Amino acid sequence: MNAVEIEQALSDLALQPFDASEFPFAFLAAFGNKDTALKRLRAGHNNASDLPGGVLQRSHIHLAVCPPGGTGSALRTLRGSPATTKAKARFILATDGQTLEAEDLSAGETIACDYADFADHFGFFLPLAGISTVKEIKDNPIDVRATGRLNKLYVELLRENPDWASAERRADMNHFMARLIFCFFAEDTDIFNGDALFTRTVEQMSERDAGNTDQVLAEIFRAMNVRIADRAGANLRPWADQFPYVNGGLFSGSAAVPRFTRMARSYLLHAGTLNWKQINPDIFGSMIQAVADDEERAALGLHYTSVPNILKVLNPLFLDDLRAQLDAAGDNKAKLLNLRKRMARIRVFDPACGSGNFLVIAYKQMRQIEAEINRRRGESHLGSGIPLTNFRGIELRDFPAEIARLALIIAEFQCDVLYRGQKDALAEFLPLSAENWIVCGNALRLDWLSVCPPTGTGVKLAADDLFQTPLDHNEIDFENEGGETYICGNPPYKGSQTQTKEQKSDLASVFEPVGIPSKQIDYVGGWFMKAAAYAQATPAESAFVSTNSICQGRIVPILWPEILRRGSVIRFAHTSFKWANLAARNAGVTVAIVGLSTDKAKKRQLYDLDGDGETTAREASNITPYLTAGDTTVVEGRRESFSNLADMSFGNMPVDGGHLLLTAEEAALLGLNKSEDAKFLRRIYGSAEFIRGVVRKCIWIGDGDLQQALQLPAIRARIDSVSQMRRESKDAGTREMAARSHQFREMYCGERHTLILPGVSSEGREYLPVGLIDNRSVVSNLAFALYDAPLWNMALIASRLHLVWIATVCGKLKTDFRYSNTLGWNTFPVPLLTAQNKADLTRCAENILLARELHFPATIAELYDADTMPDNLRQAHADNDEVLERIYIGRRFRNDTERLEKLFELYTKMVAKPGSAKPAKAAPAKRAARKAAA
Ligand SMILES: C[S@@+](CC[C@H](N)C(=O)[O-])C[C@H]1O[C@@H](n2cnc3c(N)ncnc32)[C@H](O)[C@@H]1O
Repeated sequence: MNAVEIEQALSDLALQPFDASEFPFAFLAAFGNKDTALKRLRAGHNNASDLPGGVLQRSHIHLAVCPPGGTGSALRTLRGSPATTKAKARFILATDGQTLEAEDLSAGETIACDYADFADHFGFFLPLAGISTVKEIKDNPIDVRATGRLNKLYVELLRENPDWASAERRADMNHFMARLIFCFFAEDTDIFNGDALFTRTVEQMSERDAGNTDQVLAEIFRAMNVRIADRAGANLRPWADQFPYVNGGLFSGSAAVPRFTRMARSYLLHAGTLNWKQINPDIFGSMIQAVADDEERAALGLHYTSVPNILKVLNPLFLDDLRAQLDAAGDNKAKLLNLRKRMARIRVFDPACGSGNFLVIAYKQMRQIEAEINRRRGESHLGSGIPLTNFRGIELRDFPAEIARLALIIAEFQCDVLYRGQKDALAEFLPLSAENWIVCGNALRLDWLSVCPPTGTGVKLAADDLFQTPLDHNEIDFENEGGETYICGNPPYKGSQTQTKEQKSDLASVFEPVGIPSKQIDYVGGWFMKAAAYAQATPAESAFVSTNSICQGRIVPILWPEILRRGSVIRFAHTSFKWANLAARNAGVTVAIVGLSTDKAKKRQLYDLDGDGETTAREASNITPYLTAGDTTVVEGRRESFSNLADMSFGNMPVDGGHLLLTAEEAALLGLNKSEDAKFLRRIYGSAEFIRGVVRKCIWIGDGDLQQALQLPAIRARIDSVSQMRRESKDAGTREMAARSHQFREMYCGERHTLILPGVSSEGREYLPVGLIDNRSVVSNLAFALYDAPLWNMALIASRLHLVWIATVCGKLKTDFRYSNTLGWNTFPVPLLTAQNKADLTRCAENILLARELHFPATIAELYDADTMPDNLRQAHADNDEVLERIYIGRRFRNDTERLEKLFELYTKMVAKPGSAKPAKAAPAKRAARKAAA
């Protein structure tokens, strides 16, 4: 269950009459506990409580219902109960049906409230559903509540008015919802006269069976579109005439209202009872946007982006600088005035703005600074000089776009109340400005210079979007022309596999005109490219949250040289961290923040998370596209190692239709005797066989043994099947191979041994799982092979240094490390190794193998599970790291950042002098020998 659903369930429970015996189970049900689990608890099977009437769910909660007046002492009993400790309960809760007290034993926080109000504290209990709470939600449940209530209303209205769900009417539906949200907010903030004017009027004037609710609403909305001066002739009903003139685009246009059911009417009235004054436009906006999206509705409330995360973008982008200027100004009035003037000219542009949370937070933070300036200058009465229209956005979907504008309007009003007082805020609020400065459209197709025209020029460019539709938005002047422009946001991330056809074509429209293939680029790459192009035309700085894959692997050499060529540098970056949301078990994605600037003189800042999860900042003379400090280098694949490392290639490709490969059972069914088995069958390893210990065999026949093999009917049948498959293939190369259907496409096998390395490895492992197989075993094309490689190569692959290099330059496939021999192995920079170094590393590799042996028959998957990795194996790897890192820098590296920066430093030097560390290669001769041996 998500946060919105839990809040609804708890609110429903709080409204029901208190039932002492049922309460603990009803409470647990509200957090998504299934009937079967509750049945077992009820029957006492899983109930670990040691108190009469107590219910204890292991690791979660110990609840007790007590006689009237006993809540406090019942909570103490729960706290002292041995069962609470033994079952590691995180929460204890006691209630007598009149009051309720609870404690989060891990955080040490408590709540005490009237029973009827306990649902207000739903945020406190969210960890029970595996949702880590966010302070803003915990402190203020209104945003989640409002989202839940409006969602119910939305769903019910669409059920009753299916035609409003059509593509043509959706915009009307969304506009209608935006009007409602405005009315709820306005009636609780004195924008409308009188207490709860809107909800009360609907309740009083509409029939209980909801027959005329749509007409009542339509009349109220009509009133808000009629200027006071025109009211006399408008023939408004007297109860509608009490509403002010609002318009601002919000109440113009279609006056249609969907038909209401009795249920929909009661949902509307229910939503009206909330205190909308406390709404946080940034939080509420992010939550509510899923309401209008059929696919996203299940994830209601999950896409909430916490304010601290948004500030990770906005602070280094420009807010830190404003605050530093404020500090430097002290009480100097002239300096304070300069800063105020500077802020009045700042434009913030989010080209994937969703419901406008980045814009709202930027606006609120700037208002806070402005208020402080005014306070220091003794001018707290002054109106704000920061125009809302300087906060621009592009959003693809119309509902979030609509909400974004509303969220900014609400934020402006709330800031006015906070800094200037209710009276002044009200005096200037209505009518709303009719300007719509949030563009609903496709940011990769729109011309950003048109949506957010260059500063100081006064020139308005014509839009050149895909459909050649003129944008009226660019007709809205930026107020106080000539200031700074900051582009920010959290554009959508989509890898090439998950992009729709339209998104692929959006990307192509950005990259192909400059000759860059866009197939492998993540969708978010389009925003970086457009930001760099924008900054070429007019001074601007930008910063986006992005999947960290944009700064890893194959995409780096494709994307970043062009961005740098356009004159942008990475001015600041936040290396990978989890972008948490409110999803249960916190399935946040790993992201990075990258800030671009064309001002090369500005200081560069790199932000990392330290071991305790705290952000640390450091200055760097340059930040590379891999988000490391150092000279900019882009790693490209090489055909050979430049560090004198062994050849690494894919293993042998069967191209066999499955006929050369056998399970252990199939191999037994061939009916071969021992010597035939030894001669014609070999164990074969791909990634799965190596990691999970699955036994698989293959038919492996040297040319000289073919005649003997053909005498064996079972083998002959398989070879015939391979032959048929190859002959019928559409591929000419495969057809050619039909002449030697007893063999794989390649026939390579180590003479002494082979090192094997899977092509992908789970990100949970602390080391890459490289292994050693004997000269009777074959590596398939589903893994990499190093034939007869000296064992010190294994020590390199098994090191932390190598893992860090691979994660960065090869990137990931979903969440797994994706290995590449050309990009990751051949480029791996290793200092010149002495004979002693090689001997030491060989010993380390042997120790790793021996450590694994001690746990025979544990599989690699079991041995390298980070949670259960045996101590001796971990120690063997640590020793290996110690030896290798001493070779690099004479001591252990302090952290992965230092590892990576050293590797890049070496890489840069090696690329500058390609010949210096390049070995003489004799690969073709070696392979020929191996093939002959096969
Ligand atoms: C990850 S959300 C970020 C929204 C908001 N800033 C937040 O944190 O919740 C990305 C937004 O980009 C919008 N979007 C997706 N593709 C777009 C496109 N081509 N042009 C403009 N907006 C787009 C989505 O509708 C979504 O609202």
